[in-house]
Amino acid sequence: MLDNNTIEQLDKIATPFYFYDMDLFHKTVDHVADLAARYDMKVHYAIKANVERRLLEYISSRGFGADCVSGNEVLHAHSCGFPADKIVYAGVGKSDKEIYEALKLGIEAFNCESLQEIFVINEMAKRLGTKANVSVRINPDIDAHTHKYVTTGLYENKFGISQHEFDKLIEILKKSEHINFIGLHFHIGSQITRVSEVYALECQRVNEIVSYFEKEGLDVENINLGGGLGVDYDDPDGNPIADFKVWFETIRKNIHARDDQKIHVEPGRSLVAQCATLISRVMFVKSGETKNFLILDAGMNDLIRPALYGAYHKIENLSAEQRTFFPTHQAYDIVGPVCESSDVWGAGRLLPLSVRGDLMAIRSTGAYGQVMASRYNMKDLAPSVFSDRLEDAPQVVDYFA
Ligand code: LLP
Repeated sequence: MLDNNTIEQLDKIATPFYFYDMDLFHKTVDHVADLAARYDMKVHYAIKANVERRLLEYISSRGFGADCVSGNEVLHAHSCGFPADKIVYAGVGKSDKEIYEALKLGIEAFNCESLQEIFVINEMAKRLGTKANVSVRINPDIDAHTHKYVTTGLYENKFGISQHEFDKLIEILKKSEHINFIGLHFHIGSQITRVSEVYALECQRVNEIVSYFEKEGLDVENINLGGGLGVDYDDPDGNPIADFKVWFETIRKNIHARDDQKIHVEPGRSLVAQCATLISRVMFVKSGETKNFLILDAGMNDLIRPALYGAYHKIENLSAEQRTFFPTHQAYDIVGPVCESSDVWGAGRLLPLSVRGDLMAIRSTGAYGQVMASRYNMKDLAPSVFSDRLEDAPQVVDYFA
């Protein structure tokens, strides 16, 4: 919840923009760094969730690695302070250019997702006279009980290598002279809220697969337990920091790792989601036949999650909270300005009586917000505004003045 002083300052800034609560961000990252040391876990931040330079520079300074899914993410992570040997690179479709550049940089590992990819990386490494560290992404066929668009570990998904190819995979790994096999990588989905249940199941499956590979003579030095910890979109103030302790504890309790095996996790959303709020303004209030609409200046071009996944984000009227009279509440369909019927922030949301010019907060937008924004309808991209650098923010212009 923002205090009145902050709301007054935000009211002077041109909307829409992403407001970063840097205190919460630092607190979240520091908390995870402490727990990672306590539970002896290697943490790679999945930079796909948010690539804002200031965030990445802080995360890298706390000793985390980076988990990337494109060549540009690899280069960006490196330029934000992640040493090459702490960058892992996953993704089902790596181009020759991307593989070449990552090999040149000397990244920690490629997380390979198909037999053909291993073959291509081996050939490229041979051509460059080097060896590539490779972790193999296995599809564990586990239901993460999350949204169908963000579940990744079922056989029907495109990710990872499935069990029917294990024998061929082991043969390829053994004979590829320019591949250094370093471990196994799993990822079952994102926004996982049934943490204890889902991760206990994942660990059980991972234990079986790791021992299968080791019996076949491959040393599994690194075990990467992907699958993203969920955040509380309903109550961001009640639960500003996700329960990393339960997550790490569940993994440590259920994974059968030897002392020389390293356990990795790769959180994206849980490190950054609650730290940002998309701040927007009511442009028009409109009465339809049956409902009232609030038309905001932020739309699906700024944050596509509601339109794409039907995702819920809490919405608050910050200006109404400051008004001294007791406001009546009313149901609104809150929509954006983009020429698409799916540009809806929320239908039938109960809000205090709202008027043109009110400042609105769309909460929990630090993950998969700015990174998925587009310039659809030729809209400008919403900039970042940091709580500790409010004076640098672009000021609102009064065109009636
Ligand atoms: N590692 C891999 C290989 C992944 O595929 C993902 C997310 C992550 C790490 C990070 O997971 P997280 O901690 O963020 O859950 N755009 C969607 C989310 C897609 C996530 C896909 N993979 C959304 O807005 O909900």
